Amino acid sequence: MDKLFVNLGENSYNIIFGDSFLGLADEMKKINAPQKLLIVTDSNIEKLYADEVKNHLNSAGFDSEVYAFRAGEENKRMDAILGICGACIDNNLDRKSMIVALGGGVVGDMAGFAASIYMRGIDFVQIPTTLLSQSDSSVGGKTGIDFMDSKNILGAFHQPKLVYINVNTLKTLPEIQFISGMGEVIKHGIIRDSEFYDFVKNNPEKIKELDSKTLIEMSKRNCSIKAKVVEADEKESGLRAILNFGHTIGHAVESAMDFKLTHGECVGIGMVAASYIATERGLIDSDILSDIENTLANYGFNLKLKLPECDIIYGFMQKDKKKSNGKLNFVLPIKIGEVIRVNDVKDDEIYKALEYISK
Ligand SMILES: NC(=O)c1ccc[n+]([C@@H]2O[C@H](COP(=O)([O-])OP(=O)(O)OC[C@H]3O[C@@H](n4cnc5c(N)ncnc54)[C@H](O)[C@@H]3O)[C@@H](O)[C@H]2O)c1
Repeated sequence: MDKLFVNLGENSYNIIFGDSFLGLADEMKKINAPQKLLIVTDSNIEKLYADEVKNHLNSAGFDSEVYAFRAGEENKRMDAILGICGACIDNNLDRKSMIVALGGGVVGDMAGFAASIYMRGIDFVQIPTTLLSQSDSSVGGKTGIDFMDSKNILGAFHQPKLVYINVNTLKTLPEIQFISGMGEVIKHGIIRDSEFYDFVKNNPEKIKELDSKTLIEMSKRNCSIKAKVVEADEKESGLRAILNFGHTIGHAVESAMDFKLTHGECVGIGMVAASYIATERGLIDSDILSDIENTLANYGFNLKLKLPECDIIYGFMQKDKKKSNGKLNFVLPIKIGEVIRVNDVKDDEIYKALEYISK
């Protein structure tokens, strides 16, 4: 099976890429997974994949049970974490037991967070099933939940022991969730790897048809970009911030639209806004901006949506939790494959960018 080693010293792990769950039990044995496992999933994935995963594990000698919470970002909250911890107790998980997070980014963030606090931290494994989680959230060890009005405000860094990606799970994913994941994939190309960007740009048919070989290649190249950034800066004290390309305005659009758009769609809009600022500053030519817009549009991004008024989006930007010393941080492209971080973007530049994306 294809694999990628994420080198984080004693927190290192492998990401496995395949088109089925057939190799899962062997990979679990390779990491000396304990017999006792709790598969944590959401109510949608439970119906689709929980039995298959459980049967593969149990027929190889593991003792796994399934716990599912109600699907959806609105359930990414502390009461659901307590539900997972309760299931750990009910199923007699001890310090050596392991949680298996089976699902999208919500499941990964929550199961990982529960694993980080249960008995002061037990191991966990990620089996991501959305494109967003296969290309972004399952790699890097960020776990957490939403609290009051703030997204991901409570959490912990807790690296998984293994990430097992079965690209064929994307066959059941709603199209809008696939588009959302492509936002992060395209982002990784723009910030770090122009060849990968070209691969994505030039293969929309095979990628959208969900050709397994192409998806495995995309997933592996994509995860290696994220992994290299995380290896250089595990706890986000510097370089890792470039992963926030598109997020400064994207997050504000997400809030201003009352979370009716997916995260990746908003990142797409945010990347266009940031690239527009870069164009106005003379950092990139306008044909690069057009290229980014065309690539997003080819993957189904609607860049002509009616957005809330600029003042409203700007208002949400002021609540950005990634502000430092009261200043907004932006990641701007200087070419495809390279970005810079700046904190001197002026209000009039922001407003022009907001007008551009609202056109
Ligand atoms: N930890 C990180 O580094 C990180 C990075 C980016 C995003 N995130 C978080 O990830 C979350 C978003 O993740 P997401 O987009 O995967 O959302 P999600 O987990 O809510 O999944 C989206 C929907 O698709 C369903 N689903 C999942 N896999 C499916 C499949 N194979 N077939 C059919 N349906 C399926 C889910 O049940 C859900 O209804 C957010 O909470 C965000 O904050 C975390």
